[in-house]
Amino acid sequence: MNSVYSMIMDGVDVSAITALRQKHPNAGPKSFLKWCNWERHVEQAIANARYLKLNESKGKRILDVGCGFGYFVRVCNVLGHHAEGIEDTKIPYREDLQRILDIRIHRHRVGVDSVLPDGLGNFDIITLHSFGTPIVPGGPDYAAMRQDPWTPYSWMLNKMLCRLNPGGILDDIVHFDRMDWLCCQDQWDALVGDRGNTTIHCNHITVRLHE
Ligand SMILES: C[S@@+](CC[C@H](N)C(=O)[O-])C[C@H]1O[C@@H](n2cnc3c(N)ncnc32)[C@H](O)[C@@H]1O
Repeated sequence: MNSVYSMIMDGVDVSAITALRQKHPNAGPKSFLKWCNWERHVEQAIANARYLKLNESKGKRILDVGCGFGYFVRVCNVLGHHAEGIEDTKIPYREDLQRILDIRIHRHRVGVDSVLPDGLGNFDIITLHSFGTPIVPGGPDYAAMRQDPWTPYSWMLNKMLCRLNPGGILDDIVHFDRMDWLCCQDQWDALVGDRGNTTIHCNHITVRLHE
């Protein structure tokens, strides 16, 4: 796995990224941080891949929801999987970066009309890495969300679970400030029901489906 970082760096035209950075130096404060520190975020993506043991298998279909610049998508592909991302934010250089990283990202907004895009089929792994929101604007219980954020969150997760292949994994990395809230939910069993079990590790919530 240590060599993955160099595999990823070696495979990328770093001068093209440098040129892109020079062309778009002021892309906005939040995105700019990840944009400038992309090496650190590739390392984070590698850590996430290690957590999911993606270095011990090949050929899995992976969907990264809220994939940002697509670093995790790139890492998965380098490891021999078939990954694609979903992202709704329009950033002018994102398409150029996708070309340089040779990754596929669908422009899609996760919302009440469509949680995941139609026509993509099912996946072995769906990841929400710091997707960061149980908020599904316009969702069925959006108005009540402040009293009960669990409802739209579990509704969203359920829709995603329906798109997993048997044995699939939904890997949601949540922010620490949501951890207390999620850990005290007693509805997890109802959410996964007879589909499988729920394991909470560190700041990961992994919902596994039975084979
Ligand atoms: C905190 S960033 C995390 C990016 C990446 N997963 C990572 O771990 O570095 C969350 C991303 O989710 C995207 N996002 C937020 N809400 C979304 C929605 N409703 N549909 C699609 N993408 C969304 C944002 O544009 C942003 O790029």
